[in-house]
Amino acid sequence: MSLRPRLLALGLASTSSMVSAGPCDIYKSGGTPCIAAHSTTRALYNAYNGSLYQVKRGSDGATTNIAPLSDGGVANATAQDTFCVDTTCLITIIYDQSGRGNHLTQAPPGGFKGPESNGYDNLASAFGAPVSLNGQKAYGVFVSPGTGYRNNAVSGSAKGDAAEGMYAVLDGMHYNSACCFDYGNAETNNLDTGNGHMEAIYFGDSTHWGSGSGKGPWIMADLENGLFSGANPKQNTGDPSVSYRFLTALLKGGPNKWAMKGGNAASGSLSTYYNGVRPRASGYNPMKKEGAIILGIGGDNSNGAQGTFYEGVMTSGYPSDAIEDSVQANIVGAKYATTSSTSGPGLTVGSDISIRATTPGSTDRYLAHTGSTLNIQAVSSPSTTALKGQSTWTVRTGLGNGACFSFESKDTTGSYIRHNKFELQLGANDGSKIFKEDATFCLQAGLSGRGSSIRSWSYPTRYIRHYENKGYVASNSGVHMFDSATSFNSDVTWVIGSSFA
Ligand SMILES: *[C@@H]1O[C@H](CO)[C@@H](O)[C@H](O)[C@H]1NC(C)=O
Ligand SMILES: *[C@@H]1O[C@H](CO)[C@@H](O)[C@H](O)[C@H]1NC(C)=O
Repeated sequence: MSLRPRLLALGLASTSSMVSAGPCDIYKSGGTPCIAAHSTTRALYNAYNGSLYQVKRGSDGATTNIAPLSDGGVANATAQDTFCVDTTCLITIIYDQSGRGNHLTQAPPGGFKGPESNGYDNLASAFGAPVSLNGQKAYGVFVSPGTGYRNNAVSGSAKGDAAEGMYAVLDGMHYNSACCFDYGNAETNNLDTGNGHMEAIYFGDSTHWGSGSGKGPWIMADLENGLFSGANPKQNTGDPSVSYRFLTALLKGGPNKWAMKGGNAASGSLSTYYNGVRPRASGYNPMKKEGAIILGIGGDNSNGAQGTFYEGVMTSGYPSDAIEDSVQANIVGAKYATTSSTSGPGLTVGSDISIRATTPGSTDRYLAHTGSTLNIQAVSSPSTTALKGQSTWTVRTGLGNGACFSFESKDTTGSYIRHNKFELQLGANDGSKIFKEDATFCLQAGLSGRGSSIRSWSYPTRYIRHYENKGYVASNSGVHMFDSATSFNSDVTWVIGSSFA
């Protein structure tokens, strides 16, 4: 392709009429067009004004599509907020903007089954990953363990040893070590069909297969039966641990070559973490790519991982470095930034509060603990000092995410409300990543139209709920008894007031 793509890429950066070119306009100019373009936050072509994603609300099961505010623009978050007011909302479809119809929908069961009763994976909450782009609010896709999207009938994707490129913009602070938070090319039958049958971006701190330098998390390539950081199947110390809040992760692969890059999606340029031959292990050269697209899961539907996806594309052909530099410049130009994760009535860090139920028949009950069990108990001014202490919570900055909150027990200092297998417990902060995440909650306006609802940070489809007087994090119509749709909005709506103790 000689110098043409490079010259075009330079032209994109300097010609004012092309400054607004989206990532897929840039890839197209390099002769490596997007065959899929997925984003809930913005259009990835400068002329795109179709739907970005579909949400489904819990109140009546209705769906609506969310489009950009303008051609090539940021998603209309107000449209989601309006449609989803006073109810739960799930992201049901992430539309493909390429025109090929390669949309991502709820991942079906595979080698691993999803947590839904039919074995499908969960859908992501539409509220889990608020973000701003150039000052405008949008929502990413917050993948909790058990969540996944897939398309097994993709048009135009790379198969066999054919070349492809891809990138994703992720939350570099949201990850775990389970398999596998992926975006990219995978098997078409949801099963592990062998080495070299996948080529997907992985992000997390798994050390089960390969790893990079430091403690992670790392960008790696999931090529099936292995997460690879370079040619050595075990380790490439050139693949650094990354800690950007907004992370650009980039992968491309062709006949006996592949490259992996990363960078800060909010500033600066990409760094190459690997560029060379296929891993020195059997089955990865030539590749046997199948061409499905996955998000949030492994090729066999392994669904234990977590992460947040804002945007990503898959290309046909091996994009040039110059084109990828232009794409990174475009991503930086989108101005990803954090935004408040709290809506509705505020909370003051350091204050002591009570949390009162609003369900008719339980309105004299407050969220309290008996030992390590969380429950709701009737509390009033004549109550014992002990009970007043058990129902008093000190608001702390979220242990797992500073945009949200944690609730420390007044009478058991150092212990916090956390969820464990979706039951609420009072637990001593052991400093672990999982404890901090499970003890972090985000506030939003109460789903029954008053007060507050208290969303789990790590499972944003789930809210603090009382059910048969015990405390849970419950999803609306999920698979557990305590997920019952009956009285859901009331049971997850609380009045936060001054404390008894
Ligand atoms: C979307 O773009 C097409 C093609 O440019 C244009 O005809 C159409 O009016 C646009 N739609 C909206 C809602 O802006
Ligand atoms: C965004 O959505 C709101 C609510 O549905 C709607 O009123 C508004 O017109 C939309 N804005 C644009 C620019 O389409």
